[in-house]
Amino acid sequence: MIPTSASHESGPVPQEVAAGLTRAAIFLVVTVTPGSESRGIIRSLCGDLPAFVRSVGFRELDGSLSCVTGFGSQAWDGLFGPPRPAELRPFRELRAGERHAVATPGDILFHIRANRPDLCFELATRILARLGAAVSPVDEVHGFRYFDSRDLIGFVDGTENPKGADAREAVLVNHEDPPFSGGSYVIVQKYLHNLEAWEALPTEEQERIVGRKKLTDIELDDSVKPPYAHNALTKIVEDGKEVKILRDNMPFGNAALREFGTYFIGYSRSPRTIEQMLQNMFIGNPPGTYDRLLDFSRAVTGSLFFVPSATFLAGLGSEQATTKGA
Ligand code: HEM
Repeated sequence: MIPTSASHESGPVPQEVAAGLTRAAIFLVVTVTPGSESRGIIRSLCGDLPAFVRSVGFRELDGSLSCVTGFGSQAWDGLFGPPRPAELRPFRELRAGERHAVATPGDILFHIRANRPDLCFELATRILARLGAAVSPVDEVHGFRYFDSRDLIGFVDGTENPKGADAREAVLVNHEDPPFSGGSYVIVQKYLHNLEAWEALPTEEQERIVGRKKLTDIELDDSVKPPYAHNALTKIVEDGKEVKILRDNMPFGNAALREFGTYFIGYSRSPRTIEQMLQNMFIGNPPGTYDRLLDFSRAVTGSLFFVPSATFLAGLGSEQATTKGA
């Protein structure tokens, strides 16, 4: 969890973007119904959401319930008016060969995390009941933590995430956009895996594709790691310094339908970092040296959101209180 101080000592309090990993999550994406009535309902929910999280979360003290709320480029102006976050833009679609990073509709993202799925479910239900016809849900994915924090392709996922001050540095907007400091950008993509084809590969080839050993999770030595390895293509270096993002990917699936997925979620201080990673993965770096994970995984959604600070959202609540009181 991000403490209220950090490098933003007297500045806005961030949302719980860096909440620790949990056993369960719901990724809920909705679109906004046009009209001022919807706008009012959504703004008032934003102000009340921390109280919802407290009410649901306090019923299980070890539940670690949290909710991060992000807003898409198209919805921002209608909901909040100017100014807008400097780098908020639609998700950039990419296409190369068979690979396609699709852009799909999404005005609001609720990233709900807890150690128990019932807490996530209860909060998602309360949020949607309150929003009613002001939104239309377009995607709801229930993620679960899988053995040793592995994804369904069998590799430990999340190891190289930054921690503590490094995580805050990686995800929080600061002096580059003062009205939105304490905010973050987030990109989500839902991937479906062709597990049968993946499991037909020898483990050594899978390890070269991911760039780590499967059993021990140890990173492959540079002398044997191919340039197309996932962790080579997603390593971004600017001015000699590695630029990190914060991920909280979750497996999801449906055994009967033989659906096996990874919900990718990446938070960053600038969307450029994740956009560059996607470019490297889908197009290749250099072009053609693309991420072989994509021969076995298909992105079926893709959206970009801005996560304003908790202070920004609380301001909407006090505005509602003033209106009610007037
Ligand atoms: C099919 C979907 C994906 C799967 C199954 C997957 C899986 C993994 C695994 C197993 C690792 C190694 C362990 C770790 O450090 O977490 C990893 C690392 C990483 N992934 Fe992914 N990933 C996926 C999509 C993405 C996407 C779309 C991005 C960014 C656009 C991304 C960014 C990263 C980064 C930055 C690392 C850490 C690299 C390092 O510093 O070593 N991943 N991923």
